[in-house]
Amino acid sequence: MAIARGVSVSTHRTMFIVLLSLVVGICIKAIGVLLVSAFGVIPACAAQLLSRIFTHSLKFKGNSVNRSKFIGIASGTALAAGTTSYLLSDRSNLLRADINLTDSKNAMLKPDEAEILFLASLAPSGHNTQPWFVQYLEPYHWIIGNDKNKWLPAVDPTQRETMLSIGAFLQNLDYAASAFGYVCDWTLLATTNQDDRVMSVKLLKEASKNAFDIAKIKSRRTVRSNFLSDVLKPEDLKYLVNSEPKFIHYLPTTSKESQFINEQTIAANRLQSHRDPAQQELANWIRFSSKDAEKYRDGLTTASMEIEGISGWVVRNFYDKDNVMKKDFRERGIDTVKQEVSASAGWILITSKDNSVAAFLETGRRMQRLFLKVREKGIAIHPMTQILEEASTRQTLNQSIGINESIQFILRSGYVKNYPQPVSLRRPIDWFIRT
Ligand SMILES: Cc1cc2nc3c(=O)[nH]c(=O)nc-3n(C[C@H](O)[C@H](O)[C@H](O)COP(=O)(O)O)c2cc1C
Repeated sequence: MAIARGVSVSTHRTMFIVLLSLVVGICIKAIGVLLVSAFGVIPACAAQLLSRIFTHSLKFKGNSVNRSKFIGIASGTALAAGTTSYLLSDRSNLLRADINLTDSKNAMLKPDEAEILFLASLAPSGHNTQPWFVQYLEPYHWIIGNDKNKWLPAVDPTQRETMLSIGAFLQNLDYAASAFGYVCDWTLLATTNQDDRVMSVKLLKEASKNAFDIAKIKSRRTVRSNFLSDVLKPEDLKYLVNSEPKFIHYLPTTSKESQFINEQTIAANRLQSHRDPAQQELANWIRFSSKDAEKYRDGLTTASMEIEGISGWVVRNFYDKDNVMKKDFRERGIDTVKQEVSASAGWILITSKDNSVAAFLETGRRMQRLFLKVREKGIAIHPMTQILEEASTRQTLNQSIGINESIQFILRSGYVKNYPQPVSLRRPIDWFIRT
């Protein structure tokens, strides 16, 4: 048709191809510049600097070396070395999705028992220590225990948080059992936070009226960044608090009590990060490399601390426990806390009726019931417990915010636009079952 109208098609075609090549060329160049800068220009400049010194010395010795050829070889070598070492490095965060958690070689375990215990183990715990074990007595009859090796003496000397974490484990177990058609028959065994044997449980086959949706257990996670500052909507608040208003208190970000918790959280983090035993304990639970994360399947990984991209790569490949003890690491930790508390819907505090073992376990369960409800509302939760862990901030808390009951959890809450997938690791069930 164009030819019929006398248009010179071949000229237009040629012009179009030239233009297209130009556009594609510019795009490729833009990406190329980034890659070449990272792997080419920087090593090449270093090589050139070196080569200046080199050619001088070589000439001095009466040799004649072609300088541009030398630069070429040096840059090529540097580029190849840089690329190879990057490819051999610890390149990406190890995620929960990368590991198999449900496989069990324990012949005694029935498939549904294995599934229920796996789901229970997805409970949160301070520093992700997973301080529980399960003593297998007979099918569907276990003792849930407190694993001394997983305590955090520097920040939790009375094992209050250990018991709260075990409480969260019990709640997951209860919900998971209901999904497989069991009700749990519990007997409290522990009289102190230090007792090995905490609870005995029997799973009784009984058509449960409320089978819990286990997808909620699998998708729950602690979120630490990108909180919005909108206060919780009344209908969401009602959904979260309604069943236990006596024990769940919401302090909206606009309230002076919430501002007080912000300030105290920063102060407590400052105190704790300068307390060497606490900082050393934190260092011991950080799994810097993917190799260690895979080996231990617990603790805090770069992924669970939400250290992404180049920063994550640097931490995985170049950091160790000694870095955590350095001044700049401690300072950066406090800066992160300042940033975190500057964005939230406010704080959710969970109280207990007293400080008995039973009350700690029940409060852990209460926290977990709440935690399992927030994702469907697009609300993130971040426990920040330092105020309760440092004596000076703990002592003034109740009076300053006008709550009389014992506060067991301080949870930063907030809506998030994109809810991330869970990434923290868990030990496989065979590692925490004792037969
Ligand atoms: C008792 C308790 C205390 C916690 N304290 C903190 C805390 O102070 N700061 C923090 O970032 N996360 C805290 N967490 C969250 C844990 O680090 C988190 O549950 C763990 O790393 C596992 O990750 P997940 O919740 O995404 O499964 C706490 C959790 C529990 C149960």
